[in-house]
Amino acid sequence: MLSIALPKGRLGEKVYAMFEKAGYDCPSIREESRKLVFENPEAGVRYFWVKPSDVAIYVERGAADLGVAGKDILLEYAPAVFELLDLGVGVCKMAVAAKKDFRDRGDRTLRVATKFPAIARRHFAARGREIDVIKLNGSIELAPLLGLSDVIVDIVETGKTLKENGLEVVEDVIPISARLVANRASFRFHTAEIERLTAKMKEGMNE
Ligand code: PRP
Repeated sequence: MLSIALPKGRLGEKVYAMFEKAGYDCPSIREESRKLVFENPEAGVRYFWVKPSDVAIYVERGAADLGVAGKDILLEYAPAVFELLDLGVGVCKMAVAAKKDFRDRGDRTLRVATKFPAIARRHFAARGREIDVIKLNGSIELAPLLGLSDVIVDIVETGKTLKENGLEVVEDVIPISARLVANRASFRFHTAEIERLTAKMKEGMNE
């Protein structure tokens, strides 16, 4: 049986529907309950819901054979997992944003608020721009409004949050989407099974 860590929430529902379409259904998952683990021995799968940012940890440590994680998390934490497939959902981008009137004159260290310090450091290091990273855990858009930072590095999906707070994208950092990932040892032990599942998922996406 393959165990699969799904990200809790709207994205997870969408992703489960993709597994279902690929033939890895688990009807009990649709029943209203507070249960976290669901099994369908006939389809050879066991699913569990975890916090989206924790999926990669479960997979890296082998508590799950497979999982679905955002490329943002994979880039930020660089977990030792195999990335098998871009699922084409949860599409958004990582971007640098600031207040509408902000211009970086480059005359002092740039203060960058973000949930993704590694991505931010890499982005600005590649441009030779010195930054001071301010690590926050949410509501990042507030930082430039209150003068806590000059810019933010954050996820932009519709752009609504930026717009409603008088912020705008200064520069795109990288496109983001959900990825199917595998534990390295699981992949070695169950290569055929995991490759079959990956191929089925891919097929479903192209229909
Ligand atoms: C994310 C991100 C932005 C928002 C972007 O926040 O950090 O705040 O979504 O979406 P939009 O471009 O469609 O407005 P999330 O909902 O994950 O909450 P957070 O504030 O805890 O990061």
